[in-house]
Formats: sequence, C-alpha cells, structure tokens
Amino acid sequence: MKVLVVGSGGREHALAWKLAQSSQLEKLFCAPGNPGTMDIAENVSIGDSDIKKLAEFAESKKIDMTVVGPELPLTLGIVDEFEKRGLRIFGPDQKTSELEGSKVFAKQFMERHNIPTAQARVADSPEQAVEHLDSGQFAFPLVVKADGLAAGKGVIICKDRGDAEAAIHLIMVDKKFGESGKRILVEEFLRGRETSFIVLSDGTDVLPFVTTMDHKAVYEGGKGPNTGGMGAISPSPFIDEALFLKIMESIVFPTVTHMHEEGRKYKGVLYVGLMLTEEGPKVLEYNCRFGDPETQPQVLRIESDFIDILLSVVEEDAAGKQIDWSPNASACVVLASGGYPLDYEKGKKIQGLEEASRIPGITIFHAGTAYKDGEYYTNGGRVVGVCASEENLNKTLDKIYKATSGISFEGMHFRKDIGSVKEGEK
Ligand code: AMP
Ligand code: GLY
Repeated sequence: MKVLVVGSGGREHALAWKLAQSSQLEKLFCAPGNPGTMDIAENVSIGDSDIKKLAEFAESKKIDMTVVGPELPLTLGIVDEFEKRGLRIFGPDQKTSELEGSKVFAKQFMERHNIPTAQARVADSPEQAVEHLDSGQFAFPLVVKADGLAAGKGVIICKDRGDAEAAIHLIMVDKKFGESGKRILVEEFLRGRETSFIVLSDGTDVLPFVTTMDHKAVYEGGKGPNTGGMGAISPSPFIDEALFLKIMESIVFPTVTHMHEEGRKYKGVLYVGLMLTEEGPKVLEYNCRFGDPETQPQVLRIESDFIDILLSVVEEDAAGKQIDWSPNASACVVLASGGYPLDYEKGKKIQGLEEASRIPGITIFHAGTAYKDGEYYTNGGRVVGVCASEENLNKTLDKIYKATSGISFEGMHFRKDIGSVKEGEK
C-alpha cells in the first residue's frame, strides 16, 4: 500500500507514525510533512490545500489511500477532487464537511434533529444580531460566532452588551474573518467541563476512538487565552461507560444517521466538541478531522492495523469491525514557543530533542519545527509534543515530564499540569 498523509502538524506526524507501523505499508508520503515525518516518510513539498497538485501527485505515484489531517482541504473539496479521479481518500466530502465549515449549518442541523446543543439565533446583518441581543433570550455571558472557518478565532465570549456589540462589529462590519463573518450565531453560553469525543464513521456505522481530553488554555490552572491545545490525555477522566453510551446515543448516532438521510454520508473522522453540562452533554461544535493534540495520545493506544481501520471507513465497510486499544493511559505535553498563542518568534535552536526521543517509551511528535544542517529549530507556535503511554496516567506523565526536562529552546513554555482534573479548569 502506498499512503499519502496531507498536513504538517503534530497530528499528521502522529497519523504517519501509526500508519508506518502497518505491515501493509509499502511507501509513505507526507505533503508537506515536517522534520518529524521526514524520518518515517518521504516529504513532498506540496501545500496541504493545493488540491489539484495533491491529486496529480497521488495519481502519478499510484497512491492507494490518502489521509487528510487538517479541515481546510476537506472544506475546499479535496475528497471530491480525489474521488472524481478514482483515488481513495479518507475524509468527508465538501458538502458533508459543512458540518465543520458552517456553524450555521451545524446549528440548524442539530435543531432539526433534536441533537442537544446551546440555543442560538442566526443573524445575517449587524442589525439583526443586535435584535437578538435585545430579545432578552440570552443572558450574559453569551457567545458570538462567525459562521465559517476563522482559524479557530471566530468564537468570542462576551461578558456584557458592550463586548457583544464589539464582537458583532468586529466580525460583520470590520470583516475581521472575511467571508466567514457574513452570518453569525448569537449563542447561549454553556457551563461545564469541555471535552472532545472522536469517532470514525463510514457513513452508516461508527468506530469509536478511545476517549481523550485536551487542555486548551495556555497556562496552568486553565488560565490565559485558548490555544489549539497544550496537551491531551487518554482516557478522559470525565467520560465513564454510562456517559460514553449517552453521547453515542444522543449525539453521535443521530448525527451520522441524519447526515446520511440528508444526502451527506459522513465518511471520516467525526470530532464532537462537547460541554458536559448539568443537563447532559451538549455539542459546542463539530470538526471533520482528527484532534490536535488529541490524536497523539490516541494513536499511542491503537493496537489494530491503522491502514485496515481507515480503509474500512473509505470502503464503507466498518460494520462489525472494531478497533483494538491498549488498556494503558497515554498523554501528550506540548512544548510551545514563547508568546504562543499570541505573537512568537521562530528559528530558536532546540536542544536535547534527539536525546529525549531516544528515551525508551518516549515518542516525540513534531509540529512547528525546522531542520537545518543537523539541527532542529522552532518553526511554529506549538513546537513538539512529548508523548508516552504507560499503565496509568501518573506513570505516563512522570515519564513525559522527565523527558521534557532535557529539551530546551529560548522562550520554551509548557503546562506542568496536563492531566489535572480540577473543577473549572481547562
Ligand atoms: P468552537 O469553535 O465552537 O468550539 O468554540 C471555540 C471554543 O469556545 C470552545 O472550545 C469553547 O471553549 C468555547 N465555546 C464555544 N461555544 C460555547 C458556548 N456555547 N458556551 C461556552 N463556551 C463556548
Ligand atoms: N485540540 C482541539 C482541536 O483539535 O480542535
């Protein structure tokens, strides 16, 4: 099997790492990949959203399966382009990935099918948005969301009316997120523990992944602005068997079934961002891709052949299949550039990376790194994820934090409380 992984982050390194373990693998390519994937695959310098070039490359190399990491190429229609050319590709098509690409579509879909989510109203103009504020339906804080993808920045939590008016202005008048802000949602603020829930679906059947929890805030104790995720653990300490079943029954199955009914067969990863509220789990958002950094601890626990699993989704043959998982815990601690998630500098020399990666039981997934003349340098906000999987979470984290102590670069920061489960933290 020749496999192509599209993307260049820690998530894609983790996917490539697991695919590389399959006995069916003949050759692995990553486009564009990163210095971590370079060791296990051939990196190809095509951008992850250059759909035509990617399809031409896959055709010329007779790639048997392409696995897409990020959401952008999915929402731009990479799956449609590949399928048109008879190329096998893992991920939902453009119409289906609207579940992530349009928050308005997702909200109306959930409302149509009674899938639990925050109450919201759609506004097509700033005036209409202000009417929603005036309606008294929403208490403060409330949430204002740009409809489309906004690099994860189009969601603004507003503590009072002044904040809400400013958010509406920023998105709809200043057009801070471009076309993404043509429509917005004014949404009820949900309280509770936030968690991710990730499954694969072949359009009809579902293969659940092990539970996981990421830590979004940049600083310990859940302080500071949200990031893409400063670390993640698996399993999630907040999802027991009963809650797992409830999420499957009330959210995952109805989503897959009703998408199919609406002519949007959901093939790929369904990542549900959830708030565990007092009234039960409610959907904050859908993503049509794997989580980052959630994928890193999850792949460490996969015992099945990963090519088999992904192919069963692509071929719509997941019925009766299951994924075998290690009973161990696993975790990923992200080492980030000074300043991230705001401005940060790149090009800082990373010390100790190779030594740390040789520690038995430690796996390092690269995200924002560059490689030059035998040295690694920082090249992004989230630089590397230091990961391990041991019989319990304490041992896993001990191992990881010992390894992180040997790695350094100017400005490096990371959370020392990954896995902490205190109330109100994230
Ligand atoms: P989203 O892109 O919709 O997941 O929003 C980004 C982040 O904003 C989420 O991860 C939550 O932390 C927060 N968020 C979004 N919607 C809500 C809501 N209705 N109530 C509380 N927090 C929210
Ligand atoms: N870690 C959050 C995400 O992948 O969306």
